[in-house]
Amino acid sequence: MPQSHHPAKPQHMRPPQQSAAESGIHVAIIMDGNGRWATSRGRPRTAGHIAGARVVKKIVEAAPDFGIGMLTLYAFSADNWARPSREVALLMKLFRRYLVSEVERCVTNDVRMRIIGRRDRIPAELLRAIVSAEEATRHGRKLDLRIAVDYSARDSMVRAAESLRDKESITREELAGAMGRVNHWYGEARDVDLLIRTGGEQRLSDFLLWECAYAELYFTERRWPEFTAADLQQAASEFHSRERRYGTVPAAAAG
Ligand code: FPP
Repeated sequence: MPQSHHPAKPQHMRPPQQSAAESGIHVAIIMDGNGRWATSRGRPRTAGHIAGARVVKKIVEAAPDFGIGMLTLYAFSADNWARPSREVALLMKLFRRYLVSEVERCVTNDVRMRIIGRRDRIPAELLRAIVSAEEATRHGRKLDLRIAVDYSARDSMVRAAESLRDKESITREELAGAMGRVNHWYGEARDVDLLIRTGGEQRLSDFLLWECAYAELYFTERRWPEFTAADLQQAASEFHSRERRYGTVPAAAAG
C-alpha cells in the first residue's frame, strides 16, 4: 500500500464535512393551482389540495437527486386564513396528516423537516404534530425540508426588526438570523437559489422576499397537482444553465 507523506489528521482536527443538505441548492416552491385543477375537473377545490399533498411526497423524495439541499414549500400564507373555513380546516388536517404519515420516511431518507412561519395561530393538534416531526427528524442531513405554514415575509421582517430594536445598529446577518428565529428556523434565512411557481401566475405573494433577493425565478403553467419529478428536474437544469451575476458583469467581459 503506498505510503502517504501526509497522514490523515485525527477526526477532531479535520474540517467538518459539509452535508448534502448544506452543499445543495435552495429551491423554494409556490405550489399554486390546486383549486383550478380541481374545479376544471368539476370537483371541489379541496380535491385539488388532496392531490397536491400527494405531489408534495413525490417532490420531496426526488429533490436530493437533483442537487437540492434545501426545499422550502409554501403551503399556507398568513393571508390564506381568509379562505372559506372548510377549506382552511381541510388544509390544516392535510398538513397534520402529512407530518404524521411522512415522519418515518423522512427519518429513513435522512430528511430534516421543519415548519416555518408563525406558531401562535396554529391548531393545537397540528402544533403537536409539528413538534414531534421536527424532533424525530432533527438529525437529517441529506435534505432540509421546510414547509411554510402561516407564513408572511413582510410580517417576519417586521417581527425580526422589532426583536432587534434595542440595538443601535444591525447587520444583514443579524436581521437574517432574527428572521430565522421568528419563523422557528434556527439558522440564518438562507438565500433562495431557485424559486419555482406553478399554476401560471408570476408573482411572489409575500414568500421569502428577503431570501429571494438574487433568486432565479421559474414560472410554469403546470398546476401543482400535475407537477412531476421530471418538471422539477427541468427547472433545476434550467437553473444550472443560467449565469448568475449578482450585479456584476459576465466573467468574460470583466477584462
Ligand atoms: C395554492 O393553490 C395552494 C395552497 C394555498 C395550499 C397548498 C397545499 C398543498 C399543496 C397540499 C398540502 C401540502 C402539504 C405540505 C402536505 P390554490 O388553492 O390557491 O389554487 P388556485 O389558485 O387554483 O385557486
